[in-house]
This record gives sequence, C-alpha cells and structure tokens, in this order.
Amino acid sequence: MKMICCIPVLALILFGEMVEGTCNSNLGSSLLGDLIGMVLKLKGSDNGCCCLNKKTTPAFSAILTKVQSLGVKDTIKFDKVVTNIQNGYNPSSGIFTAPMAGVYQLSTTVMSHKGQKLVVHLWYNDVKMSGGWGLGNQHVQATINMVLELQKGDQVTIKSRESNNVYSDDDNYTCFSGYLIAQ
Ligand SMILES: *[C@@H]1O[C@H](CO)[C@@H](O)[C@H](O)[C@H]1NC(C)=O
Repeated sequence: MKMICCIPVLALILFGEMVEGTCNSNLGSSLLGDLIGMVLKLKGSDNGCCCLNKKTTPAFSAILTKVQSLGVKDTIKFDKVVTNIQNGYNPSSGIFTAPMAGVYQLSTTVMSHKGQKLVVHLWYNDVKMSGGWGLGNQHVQATINMVLELQKGDQVTIKSRESNNVYSDDDNYTCFSGYLIAQ
C-alpha cells in the first residue's frame, strides 16, 4: 500500500526534475509546486466532503453563564452561544439538532453547586447515552464525551436526572460543544 501511495509523489518529483533538467529551473520548481498543489486540492475535495470548511462544517459551543435550577429530565439551556456554524444549536431550548447527517463529536462539562449532587446525561433523541456525576464538599465538574452517528434532524441534549442545580458563572464552568467529524 505504501508503495502505491508513493508512486504519484515520486512521479511528480521525477517529472519536476526532468523539467528542471531541460528548462530554466525556476519554471521547473514552479510547475512542480503547481502540480503538488493540484494533487493536494483533488485529495482535499474527496467526495465533496464538507469537512474542514469553516462555513459549512456544523460546529457549536455554548456556555451556561449562571446557575440553572433543573427538574427531573430538564434540559440545560447553555445560554451564551460562542460558535454556531450551521445554527444547529438553539440556546433557548438547549437542543442541538444535526443540520446534516454524519459522525459528530459531542461533549459537555458541567459543574455542581457547592456540596450538592448533580447528575446529568447526554441524550441522543430519546435515548440516554452517557452520564456524568458530580458531588463533593466543593464545586465538582463532570465531563461527558461521545461520538455519535446522527441523521439530519437528530437531537442531542444534556438533561438532569433529578432536581438539581447546575452551577456556572462568568468563568464559564459549564459548557456544551459539538462538531461534525465526517459525513
Ligand atoms: C466566558 O465566555 C465569554 C464569551 O461568551 C468570554 O467573553 C469570557 O471571556 C469568558 N470568561 C472566561 C473567564 O473565560
């Protein structure tokens, strides 16, 4: 496999040297540069993948800026949007809705109120995917990370398990982020 991958690169180098051998060397190296550039561009446009394009790749980050009191299965409403490419995240509901199908990385960090228990779950539509637990004499943080294959319109939320307070303040201790990895 490695050899096969190397062939186009070797061919380019050889071609570049041939050009350099026969013509003016500035022309040779600029041609080689153009060819390598073209090959890299072709590789980058793989299947029309939207990845690595900052205007089209769904990506969001939102912060909770204050304490939120939560009832059983209440959704945390991360109120301050920092990034929201493709507008999948809605700060008034706290729901992330996949703007397109694909594999997404999703994560949250939550902080408990001093001395109080906080249990949250990352939900994928109606499925509880993974839990985070914080309890201690001081504020405690819990983090959840998941990679999920989402269909367009699928929803991801962070919900409390019980009646709890989730803590945050100007230091942005509680946040929710996600982004598309691959289509
Ligand atoms: C909290 O987030 C806001 C953006 O929403 C930013 O301006 C501020 O600097 C952040 N605070 C800290 C302590 O990082």
